[in-house]
Amino acid sequence: MEPIKVGLLGFGTVGSGTFTVLRRNQEEIRRRAGRGIEVTRIAVRNPAKALAALGDAAGSVALTDDFAALVDDPTLDIVAEMMGGTSLARELVLRAIANGKHIVTANKALLAVHGNEIFEAAHAKGVMVAFEAAVAGGIPIIKALREGLSANRIQYIAGIINGTTNYILSEMRDRGLDFATALEAAQALGYAEADPTFDIEGVDAAHKVTIMSAIAFGVPVQFERAYIEGISDLDAIDIRYAEELGYRIKLLGITRRTAEGIELRVHPTLIPEKRLIANVEGAMNAVVVHGDAVGTTLYYGKGAGAEPTASSVVADLVDVTRLHTADPEHRVPHLAFQPDRLSSTPILPIEEISSSYYLRLRVADVAGVLASITRILADAGISIDALLQKESEQVDDHGKGETDLIVLTHETREKHINAAIRTLEALTTVVSKVTRLRMEALN
Ligand code: NDP
Ligand code: HSE
Repeated sequence: MEPIKVGLLGFGTVGSGTFTVLRRNQEEIRRRAGRGIEVTRIAVRNPAKALAALGDAAGSVALTDDFAALVDDPTLDIVAEMMGGTSLARELVLRAIANGKHIVTANKALLAVHGNEIFEAAHAKGVMVAFEAAVAGGIPIIKALREGLSANRIQYIAGIINGTTNYILSEMRDRGLDFATALEAAQALGYAEADPTFDIEGVDAAHKVTIMSAIAFGVPVQFERAYIEGISDLDAIDIRYAEELGYRIKLLGITRRTAEGIELRVHPTLIPEKRLIANVEGAMNAVVVHGDAVGTTLYYGKGAGAEPTASSVVADLVDVTRLHTADPEHRVPHLAFQPDRLSSTPILPIEEISSSYYLRLRVADVAGVLASITRILADAGISIDALLQKESEQVDDHGKGETDLIVLTHETREKHINAAIRTLEALTTVVSKVTRLRMEALN
């Protein structure tokens, strides 16, 4: 049978990694897919740069800087979008779909923001949109959620799903690197987004957890409802105190089914250090999925980089090749649930989520301070799980001291902890803003 023909939009880290893996493993891939998979055309802004990167393979593909011509090329069966961004990428993907092409994409921003429109267009046209590489790089988590766990009523997903921030946190903790140096290293390794604030501020992780949430709970993608907090405000002292208390701080993407709705959030989170996921370091990703039948499962692997991501892209190319001729109604639905059976379960505002909390208070070391703090928390119905009072530091000539007080709470509503923090900050003995971090037991 003739090889299936693929056009690549973009030839950077992921595009070139995909090309390399497809070429290197072409025989194995052909045996799996039932026919060859060939990249015949690549669109880039700068063809000279791509030509150099193609090396001795340059003769086998047509390079162009005309992106529209690629998606209109009648000889192509699949368009693999590896360029990133949400504007030109959306336009080209929708045009390729209108031309009857299947889409493979690694672009989580595109799907988190425009996924509903893209899936609807693809469904109407009877083509597939495959996006394994969009979440957790080389880990086949989309396949696991959409197919492997389809017996389950999924309860929650919690994941380290941004390699750049996990790399930064690991390098800061283990090698004492400062934030900027660790970020530069992550960029040099090809992990970071074109705009690295997407990584640092939690936006990339929010794109990914939004996609997983839709697949897990059968709801439309709703990125605009995700709560997002990154690692730029994280203080090194909290990483140290957390460790003293037996926790690690990780940037987690969390989505959970509750009686009132769905939680969808990204923020630095304390996790007990004995959990496997707390020990995931560097650019590695890990996703915990809890289903009612299977219990807790963990998926671990490289979350970024050329070939790990290409592993997922090529797996999608194989899937699309296998299902290319199948009746569209009998393919796996894009969001796991049939498109006419998506639910309208609301995404909860962050004030309505439940969590346990880590609070750090800078307090005047005077008699009664602890009593007044515990009284405020008790009055708010917040139960204390643990307390750590650091040694007093003398701050003036009269021997007056200040100290850090760390309070770990049991689970409560976010709005209750926020109200309690406002009251605590009004005390004259609490001398600076209270630091509040969320905790997850994941047991
Ligand atoms: P790169 O920046 O390395 O490559 C992007 C490619 O697309 C380049 O060839 C670039 O051309 C081209 N391109 C980018 N923007 C435009 C545009 N507006 N118009 C035309 N061409 C454009 O990105 P990555 O390969 O790292 O990422 C690609 C996609 O994969 C993104 O959606 C990213 O989020 C996703 N992804 C990345 C992972 C990684 O580890 N890097 C992992 C998982 C997903 P030029 O070189 O000329 O600028
Ligand atoms: N910038 C992303 C990360 C790439 O660091 O995880 C993988 O999606």
